[in-house]
Amino acid sequence: MKIVESVASMQSLRHSWSKRVGFVPTMGALHEGHATLIKRARTECEHVCVSLFVNPTQFNDPQDLDRYPKPKEQDLVLLRTLDVDAVFAPPASEIYSDNYRFSVHESLSAKILCGAKRPGHFAGVLTVVLKLLNLVRPHKAYFGEKDFQQLRLIQEMVQAFFLPSEIVACPTVREADGLAMSSRNLLLSATERELAPALYHILVMADSASTARQQLHARGFKVDYVEEHWGRRFGAAFLGPVRLIDNVEL
Ligand code: PAF
Repeated sequence: MKIVESVASMQSLRHSWSKRVGFVPTMGALHEGHATLIKRARTECEHVCVSLFVNPTQFNDPQDLDRYPKPKEQDLVLLRTLDVDAVFAPPASEIYSDNYRFSVHESLSAKILCGAKRPGHFAGVLTVVLKLLNLVRPHKAYFGEKDFQQLRLIQEMVQAFFLPSEIVACPTVREADGLAMSSRNLLLSATERELAPALYHILVMADSASTARQQLHARGFKVDYVEEHWGRRFGAAFLGPVRLIDNVEL
């Protein structure tokens, strides 16, 4: 497994690959959800690249960035077991040599849900994903439906800019109790972890978004939003300082 830290080395490695390239962009703190995306890339592509980059521009709260788990050595051990060909783990200076003077803004889907609550978040996501897709030039890039709004925006960006990569949507992977897998789950206390699956169950069971909001509040969540769009119900809520998101098909 090659560990690539510079843009130039990533570009030259990419030049040496002649068959199908599968790409899984991540911010590390890998879990079974990421492993599922990587395994799928492994079965569909000859070359598999995973990025580990905690993208600073998508964090609207600097404390959230500080808190974000960064177990890089543990991630590399897991990636070796998954038979990944290359890990792209650049420092921020490699990705943002322009000091973030250039960015991608979307003016419709990015204005609601997490976009409304986290100013600048999706500009950061779309900008880094555009940069990563341009560097890795994958035939297929894999994203989870847990971040459905992100997935949709990336699909729309790829269409808008005529990027040649296929965006592959993969179903949310859940713990046995229903909690959507997320790197942020590592930050939950034992009591919060016990309560966390209620977000999913209430999104599924409540007869309306406003009932879901009330039920989450009654269970001790600080609700950011529960809203319905694109035939799905979306929820974001805090347990202590940890912000959880999930979505279900209606
Ligand atoms: O979903 C994530 O982990 C991140 O938003 C992504 C797509 C890797 C961009 O930093």
